[in-house]
Amino acid sequence: VEFHRRQPLIIRRASHKDLSTIQSILQDASAWLQSKGSDQWQRPLKIERIENDLENGSVYLGEIDGKPVATITVDDRADPDFWSSEDCPEQALYLHRMAVRSAYRGKGLGDLLIQHAEQLAKESGRSKLRLDAWRTNKGLQRYYAMHGWTYVRTVNAEHRQSGALFERCLTVEDTPNNVAGIVQR
Ligand SMILES: CC(C)(COP(=O)(O)OP(=O)(O)OC[C@H]1O[C@@H](n2cnc3c(N)ncnc32)[C@H](O)[C@@H]1OP(=O)(O)O)[C@@H](O)C(=O)NCCC(=O)NCCS
Repeated sequence: VEFHRRQPLIIRRASHKDLSTIQSILQDASAWLQSKGSDQWQRPLKIERIENDLENGSVYLGEIDGKPVATITVDDRADPDFWSSEDCPEQALYLHRMAVRSAYRGKGLGDLLIQHAEQLAKESGRSKLRLDAWRTNKGLQRYYAMHGWTYVRTVNAEHRQSGALFERCLTVEDTPNNVAGIVQR
């Protein structure tokens, strides 16, 4: 992608100092979703959860030319509402709260965030990457299906609106270490 060649996406672990930046990227995403008539991410952000994830070192920030443009959280927390022991939850890492600022969408940055997550999964000896997507958001589910994810099933947990489950298996050939355009530190 032309854009990356000129200005690479730098993905780094976020710290507490980045909390308001992360919030603003997620709020930008929820405003975009609202403008599309989606009910996804329309409740107030659970700040304590983000703080907790920052504490655990599982939140990442993507920057282009020093500007924060994207975020993703990757951890080993298999949500018990969605994944059961039959899914061998310990074989995977799980991604949450992936978002790219509206002005930077459509350039494949989502793929770069996912490649970063794949690398983390490999480094921790996992063979899969998993996520739960908003059940009613077919557009988002199409996005994942088109970007190398396999649909697993939809779980209709009563008190949850997410639950369309996707996963991707990591193969030895996938070596995201040197993917053009990403610099990791
Ligand atoms: C998902 C995301 C990170 C991908 O960023 P990207 O690589 O720049 O890709 P794009 O934004 O161009 O999205 C690709 C396509 O998926 C669609 N899409 C992405 N997220 C969507 C969503 N939440 N709802 C509906 N459609 C969505 C886009 O409209 C776009 O469709 P198009 O190709 O027909 O224009 C970004 O779209 C985003 O921040 N979405 C909102 C937050 C979100 O839903 N995150 C996932 C939570 S599990």
